[in-house]
Amino acid sequence: MLLQDKTVVVTGGNSGIGEAIVLAVAAQGANVVVDFVAHPEETSSLIAKVEAAGGHAIGVKADVSRPADLHTMIGKAVDSYGRLDVLINNAGIETRTSLLDTTEADFDKVVAVNLKSAFFATQIAAKQFISQGGGGLVLNISSVHEDWPMPGNIAYCVSKGGVRMLTRTAGVELGPHDIRVVNIAPGAVATPINASTEDDPAKMKQLEAAIPLQRMAQPSDIADVVAFLASGRARYMTATTVVIDGGIMQGSVGL
Ligand code: BGC
Repeated sequence: MLLQDKTVVVTGGNSGIGEAIVLAVAAQGANVVVDFVAHPEETSSLIAKVEAAGGHAIGVKADVSRPADLHTMIGKAVDSYGRLDVLINNAGIETRTSLLDTTEADFDKVVAVNLKSAFFATQIAAKQFISQGGGGLVLNISSVHEDWPMPGNIAYCVSKGGVRMLTRTAGVELGPHDIRVVNIAPGAVATPINASTEDDPAKMKQLEAAIPLQRMAQPSDIADVVAFLASGRARYMTATTVVIDGGIMQGSVGL
């Protein structure tokens, strides 16, 4: 197994891509800390599923936009499993609002959950990696929109662009400590964040036509790559982004 006895923390771990990551890393032998902010019942049923498959997981309620909660989350991981090996900054939200419509509250919330959280969780995890010794890994779940404008979702794009630079700069700063930082940029994935698109057949048709692989990703399409990236097999990767988008970013035009 790729992650036998590694401690892996997954923020926003009880739904969408996070949930699939929890299942994928647990199946590779990891001890998983499932961070959540709402729906404790979904966390409990996810943990039961992991345990039924012979894996190990605990839930921790922590609001990732608050650094104090992030300290509690990482502390709980170390107390429960003895050390931290991989932090996966997955929690994310979007408002689907344009520049003209985005309120200060929308902007602050999106940036706090998507970017500030990843920044401080990376800082706290890095300090833990350095004090325990032996290096470490941070994986950020970004988006194709770290690079690619999504009109009508600007605060999200701004936050993901920030995650891209966080990954690159933190990767450079932390390399000498043998701490790697890698970004994953999914395209359109069938998760609650895309529920409004999935509920609109015309939008779905347009979206699928724009994807060379002709379908939205399932969360497991992303999680399988994440489990590999979390393992020693990806040991020479840092400060970069892995795109998992079915080819959507190649933006074929020309009718
Ligand atoms: C966004 C979705 C969008 C998808 C593809 C994701 O990062 O969260 O709203 O549909 O990218 O454009």
